[in-house]
Amino acid sequence: MCRRIAAGNWKMNGVAADLGEVSAIADAAQDTTCEVVLCLPATLLPQAGARNLPKALKLGGQDCHVETNGAYTGDISAEMLAEVGAKYVIVGHSERRQFHGESDAQIAAKARAAWDAGLTAIICIGETEEQYRAGRTLEVLDRQIAGSLPQNATSENTVLAYEPIWAIGTGLTPSLAEVSAIHTHLRTRLPDETIAILYGGSVNAKNADKIMNLENVDGSLVGGASLTVAKFTPIIKALEATK
Ligand code: PGA
Repeated sequence: MCRRIAAGNWKMNGVAADLGEVSAIADAAQDTTCEVVLCLPATLLPQAGARNLPKALKLGGQDCHVETNGAYTGDISAEMLAEVGAKYVIVGHSERRQFHGESDAQIAAKARAAWDAGLTAIICIGETEEQYRAGRTLEVLDRQIAGSLPQNATSENTVLAYEPIWAIGTGLTPSLAEVSAIHTHLRTRLPDETIAILYGGSVNAKNADKIMNLENVDGSLVGGASLTVAKFTPIIKALEATK
């Protein structure tokens, strides 16, 4: 059986004044049997980690460098994230692929760096709107999996997140049938078939229960709706209800 994970990606949002939301989400995660992960800005991780977080709530970073240290201005290593309490790190988010030109090979190297630091890598893949419209989704995802998911990935060290780029932050989502077919396809492409596959892209309180109920959907990666306890709690509960 796969891990079941509700992961929040705060992106470049959140200052110390928002730590109250972290505590409130921690309270909401208290009794859940799924894993709840908050991938916070690196600046908030030490303060968040110092709070009394329940076992079900884990912290994560949003990116890491492939090296542990060195002359890489502005970057952060997996080891640094681990030191301040992160257990997860997102690698290959489409915003990193798009705005920082990250390649599949770099993302695979980042996943390995994450493992070396003892972190679970949340590896993101997803097609553009143009690729979706051209019916090339599976071909694109297969290429991204082959390039950015190291062959020795296991359910212990890796989580896959399928995030159609056109669904991120837009309020649009693929149909349930599409999500189901894509996740079922992805399962056959994994080096370890028990690796959890999350769906991401405009997950919210309204659609979470239907998406989380689909076979081969093991949780969600949530951007905007993870920023507040009011929006994130129903998503956690929707996953919890699928057990
Ligand atoms: P969204 O973002 O939930 O705001 O669409 C998802 C993501 O980018 O991980």
